[in-house]
Amino acid sequence: MNSTRPNWTSRYSFILASIGSAVGLGNIWRFPYIMGKYGGAVFLVIYLLLILTICFIPLLAELAMGKTLKKECIGAYESINPKFKLLGFLNPLTGILISSFYFIVGGWIINYIYLSFINYKTADYGGYFSSFIQSPMLSILFTLLFLFICIFFTSRGIKKGIEFANNVLMPLFAFLLAGLIIFSLSLPNANLGLEYMFKPDFSKVNPEMFLAALGQALFTLSIGMGALLTYGSYIKEDKSMVKSAYTIIFSDTMFALMAGIMIFPAIFSFGLEPDSGAGLVFVTLPNIFAKIPFGNIVSAAFFTLLFCAALTSGISILEVSVASLTERMKISRIKASVILFIIISLIAIPASLSFGGLHNITLFKKSIFDFLDFTTSNILMPLNTFFLCIIAGWFLKIKGSQFINNKFFAMLFDIGLKFIIPVVLIGVLVAGLK
Ligand code: TRP
Repeated sequence: MNSTRPNWTSRYSFILASIGSAVGLGNIWRFPYIMGKYGGAVFLVIYLLLILTICFIPLLAELAMGKTLKKECIGAYESINPKFKLLGFLNPLTGILISSFYFIVGGWIINYIYLSFINYKTADYGGYFSSFIQSPMLSILFTLLFLFICIFFTSRGIKKGIEFANNVLMPLFAFLLAGLIIFSLSLPNANLGLEYMFKPDFSKVNPEMFLAALGQALFTLSIGMGALLTYGSYIKEDKSMVKSAYTIIFSDTMFALMAGIMIFPAIFSFGLEPDSGAGLVFVTLPNIFAKIPFGNIVSAAFFTLLFCAALTSGISILEVSVASLTERMKISRIKASVILFIIISLIAIPASLSFGGLHNITLFKKSIFDFLDFTTSNILMPLNTFFLCIIAGWFLKIKGSQFINNKFFAMLFDIGLKFIIPVVLIGVLVAGLK
């Protein structure tokens, strides 16, 4: 076994970093607006059901695969069968594609932190947002800045970079979140927002909702891109992988719910609509911040919180490729980081320009940004998770009884990994492509 591979300082650092990876834009930006789109509480019920049953299995399998094989993704798949090398390679590839649009949104956040500090106000936040994302210089500059900050931490290694970032940013994130929740709940009519979140209207259930909930669940738990496999490969000792897996799932879900509790009461309190899509955080919320006393401070707190969440996730996305580059090409982390910076910039710059100058260029009728989002969330992540389950269940022969004491639950895990989840994922893929 490779003795030069880094390890986490403790089980706590591993779990914190995995929570940092899971809790990101998916929880605070995407979850509330998807929930808004699908009718609030009823979506939440379906989402919780899926996340506690179906998603637990691939999450545990991915971590266990990393921990057992102790290799970066490509090497891990290759060591099971050389023919699987290409499937392993799909993981960092997906990461690079995800990061290209993830970091663009990260760049938007930096701009909004800046706006809060200069106390920028306008009568038309929607107009401001679209003119900002269309302006080539600014959006590229902020995207590259966000990428640079993430790369800085991955280049410093596991302990000094990734653990350090999570140890500082995650507590700051939780602190700001708690403060903003108290603030939001103290607004008049806050209960309307809570009712919207927690009082399900089952007449709104539709099949598309299941697809959206599963896609959201895979994305928010960072499943299907090698991030958990890579983080799992740095584990020295973990007596209860099941507990670790549930801690990650539980924390991620709590943070998503808390993001909702922070956002929806504020939206309802101001009589605004919760279904404004991707602009919810960048248009609807700034509108509210402009109307409240000390709004710029609240705004700075909110976007800093979003920044912390996006940064710890961005780091995990990059680490997949950094690990592959350093271990396979035997180069330093710094070199690997520079190479990645260049590759990701080459994709992120056109994606960022697809809101403005390059909006005419379309791939399969989608702008470059939408195309990257669609291919990664709807195709590559379910596909990678499918291969992961097949390889872990049928070839690496990971068994539920390795982690779960209860015979019945261990058997459910095996059946889920080998049959149910692969079939569900194929269904999701086919439905998603329609
Ligand atoms: N889970 C993160 C979020 O919710 C995004 C993310 C980080 C991710 N690493 C990942 C998604 C790996 C898929 C795969 O924002």
